Amino acid sequence: MSEVKKIAVLTSGGDSPGMNAAIRAVVRSGIAQGLDVQGIERGYSGLLEERFLTMDTHGVSETIQRGGTILFTARCPEFVERETQEKAAEILRKHEIDGLVVIGGDGSFRGAQALARLGVNVIGIPGTIDLDIACTDYTIGFDTAVNTAMEAIDKIRDTSSSHERCSIVEVMGRSAGYIAMVCGIATGAEDILLPELYDGDEQAIIDHVIDNRKKGRKHHLIINAEGVGHSTSMARRIEAATGVETRATILGYLQRGGSPSSRDRFYASLMGSRAVDLLIAGKSCRIVVFKDGRCTDVDIEEGLAMKKEIPESIRRLTSLLAR
Ligand code: ADP
Ligand code: F6P
Repeated sequence: MSEVKKIAVLTSGGDSPGMNAAIRAVVRSGIAQGLDVQGIERGYSGLLEERFLTMDTHGVSETIQRGGTILFTARCPEFVERETQEKAAEILRKHEIDGLVVIGGDGSFRGAQALARLGVNVIGIPGTIDLDIACTDYTIGFDTAVNTAMEAIDKIRDTSSSHERCSIVEVMGRSAGYIAMVCGIATGAEDILLPELYDGDEQAIIDHVIDNRKKGRKHHLIINAEGVGHSTSMARRIEAATGVETRATILGYLQRGGSPSSRDRFYASLMGSRAVDLLIAGKSCRIVVFKDGRCTDVDIEEGLAMKKEIPESIRRLTSLLAR
């Protein structure tokens, strides 16, 4: 018999499409295995405010197709402080929580790591559109976000071609360029600016726009990552230097919303269920990951210490296909 009787789940940091599928999987697989499953609203802030609610199988019906998170999410800056973490661990003990599932990004996992060090059994599930967690090849929401962005960029490209303009489209990703990398390749962009690779050589972009005009290209699409930024001022400078009308679009939060893709629903469901299995098996301080096509788990400390890089083959592709 498992000693784990009561578990809790929360979502933290930026929301991402598919978080609801993960919550649903935690709730349903927990209940199916005899556990009391609590939801904690508003991430670590809600934990400190003791916003617990009992989850039941029917309560998560009709949620798998919904974007956002039914548990709400929040940033809780004071959670970096030891005193606050101790208070949170105490609250979890008071509510007799034997295991906590944290769905969020690397910031949320640092909070989870702190709780684990204070004796809380914690399992992390990577939920972020940014794909910026080194220990996993997949994070919940990335697939939906890049498809949403790709569709928007295709539309911008149509009008950009009609007007024979240059377009800069800025996509999210905080300091990581994975959304820009995939969107740039998937939309056939002429230039892809990633914070990991961009050296600030705007003259090279200007030369590329002028060169393409000479070759008769009717539009020039630049995908710019949030981590590079400055799209609006960049557009002004490119227009002044090339004489080609240039517009900037910052896609923003539309990338975080919307109904999750089948991939996000499926993988989030697998990850949610695995998190419960790990807690029942007495595991703690683990992150559920997809690595080399397999759903597995890694130690939070080890996972957070890893560094993620853009693979060399993709680095080549970002410039090779755009010429
Ligand atoms: P994400 O989890 O998507 O990376 P954030 O970086 O905003 O998003 O982190 C989400 C929350 O995780 C923060 O608001 C804070 O409550 C907690 N957190 C972030 N960094 C730390 C840290 N170093 N120690 C403890 N908690 C942290
Ligand atoms: O981490 C997801 C993300 O959308 C980043 O791409 C972006 O930098 C950040 O969150 C925006 O956060 P906020 O919702 O606090 O504006």
